[in-house]
Amino acid sequence: MADKVTVPVVRARKGGARLKMVTAYDTPSARIADRAGADIILVGDSLANVVLGFETTLRVGVEEMVHHTAAVSRARPRALVVGDMPFLSYHVSVEEAVRHAGRFVREGGAEAVKLEGGRKRIPVVEAVLAAEIPVMGHIGLTPQSVHAMGGYRVQGKQVDAARALLADAHALEEAGVFAIVLEGVPAELAAAITAAVAVPTIGIGAGKAVDGQVLVFHDVLGFHDQRLAKFVRPYAHLFDDAVAALSAFFADVESGAFPSAEESYTMPPEEAQALLGGGDASAG
Ligand code: KIV
Repeated sequence: MADKVTVPVVRARKGGARLKMVTAYDTPSARIADRAGADIILVGDSLANVVLGFETTLRVGVEEMVHHTAAVSRARPRALVVGDMPFLSYHVSVEEAVRHAGRFVREGGAEAVKLEGGRKRIPVVEAVLAAEIPVMGHIGLTPQSVHAMGGYRVQGKQVDAARALLADAHALEEAGVFAIVLEGVPAELAAAITAAVAVPTIGIGAGKAVDGQVLVFHDVLGFHDQRLAKFVRPYAHLFDDAVAALSAFFADVESGAFPSAEESYTMPPEEAQALLGGGDASAG
């Protein structure tokens, strides 16, 4: 098995072999991601929409995120485990942000945290880094800003907005993040940011010219029946496969075809005879 992926390993991949990142929210999904060769497993706050049935990521807090991060790290993956700091866990004060980031590491077993935002988050990024917790940045379409953005809209389409995102990327790089997620930005802008910063960029809806790609586990595997965003390519249809498998199970229950003799436990024959024949197995 290849060596454990660490923060310096990720950093050193700038401009090299593309980074493979996927979300996971529990132990089995982390094992699957790891077996498939993920470099980074993100315990994303997409937990809210993908697993917990909420409309937006604003609805999960530190408790749920740390709980699921711990489930992922119990898989002891080779991949780097990054915990996603949820809405309001780093917005109130720098002290709170450090304490919350620390819970991801101490209780969740995360090896780094991710947080959304550019220049305005620099004090928080610096404080979390000063606590020896590596930080991954995330700019562009940042889902925790859904209301401020007026919906899930591609960011940086106009030159001024694109320049602002470039400035955000530079500020994050200078502050010391080890990688930056670029979400929902035009491919040209992602390429410009990737060329401009010395840390790896990881794209989601950001085109090809980035240092790595990330998708949500359930999207890649077709493990839900919701609409897929334009940038998602499903590589399986596990939702349909699961419905078909459970339907087959239920049909076998209805018909009596399940369970078979091989799927049942048996008593020693003389005990069964005593029980079914009405005798007393304990009588000599
Ligand atoms: O929560 C999430 O899934 C993310 C992405 C970058 C995919 O933040």
